[in-house]
Amino acid sequence: MVTRPVDEAMAEDRPAKAAVRQRWVDCLIELDARWEGREPLYLTLPGAEGRDVALAVQHGVIALNEAGSIAEESLHKVVAVERGQEAALQLRRRFPGLKILDQPIQSLVRGEGLTSYPEAEHRVWCRALVVNLDLSARLEGEARAGGISFPVVSWIGKLAVLHAQEPIVPWTLLLTMNAEPSLAHEGLRDIGTLFRENISLSPAFRERLADLVGPTAVEGLSTEATDPLGGSDDQTLRSVVVAAIPKLIAGVVPEGWVMRSEWCLRYGGESGHAGMIAYRFDFTLADGNLAPVERYKHTVDDLLRSVERIEEDGTVL
Ligand SMILES: C[S@@+](CC[C@H](N)C(=O)[O-])C[C@H]1O[C@@H](n2cnc3c(N)ncnc32)[C@H](O)[C@@H]1O
Repeated sequence: MVTRPVDEAMAEDRPAKAAVRQRWVDCLIELDARWEGREPLYLTLPGAEGRDVALAVQHGVIALNEAGSIAEESLHKVVAVERGQEAALQLRRRFPGLKILDQPIQSLVRGEGLTSYPEAEHRVWCRALVVNLDLSARLEGEARAGGISFPVVSWIGKLAVLHAQEPIVPWTLLLTMNAEPSLAHEGLRDIGTLFRENISLSPAFRERLADLVGPTAVEGLSTEATDPLGGSDDQTLRSVVVAAIPKLIAGVVPEGWVMRSEWCLRYGGESGHAGMIAYRFDFTLADGNLAPVERYKHTVDDLLRSVERIEEDGTVL
């Protein structure tokens, strides 16, 4: 039996997480309507319990046969990625026939480097219409020669490049991360300064960012202070992380594509639970050419307008 903390947390099935899963399945139902079978519909990290897969079965998105295995017509529709051996075993028992890639997602996309990409079957799986990265990990940065690099962002960039290859696949990323600030103020400052251009170019952006992170943090982020977020409380730092993740992802979206934030749900951060953030980003081809700042402006405008909060009891505010 698997006893990792992540499995225990999932087995607990908190109402807030169930509310996020409901959004995921709504998204799957929506995209299933345009699924043609060339690429898979759904690539996910379902964990040992596979609760999101179970929900997709319950809503008729994934079919089971009479024996309770994944039905023939759904075999190519869903793929699970699981790096934990025990968890993969448990998942296999739960959903016989489910395609499970027993490896870390980073090795599936062939690391962070831009010279090596998955091929053959793995390339096909990576081009799913919906990719659900329920990582529950913090945004970790690694110091590199040219500044900080964020592995999760690099993997997403590679997935975006794969979807942009012919025949192109408009796609949706469901991303769940721990929003607790893991980076020192210095790291957050570096991310925060990414906002400086948007803040100075758009008063509306400034205003909306202030709604999310507070006017003092925006003031700090628009200056060249050495520690613009110094003295900020955890809630403010989490909010900076919430706004920073889409900004970082927008930086790796291939040219000609637009990223839109469909929804953004915050939960936890109280009663001993970590602050979490779940996003839905849709990637589609742009009408005409958009400058990078424009590409992000759409995302942030959407994002800042669409941040919702899920209470412990699952109510979405
Ligand atoms: C938070 S759980 C998934 C829960 C599931 N989505 C649900 O709704 O209940 C994340 C799972 O992904 C696995 N995982 C985390 N990071 C991974 C990575 N980089 N590559 C592959 N699997 C990973 C973990 O072992 C864990 O089983």
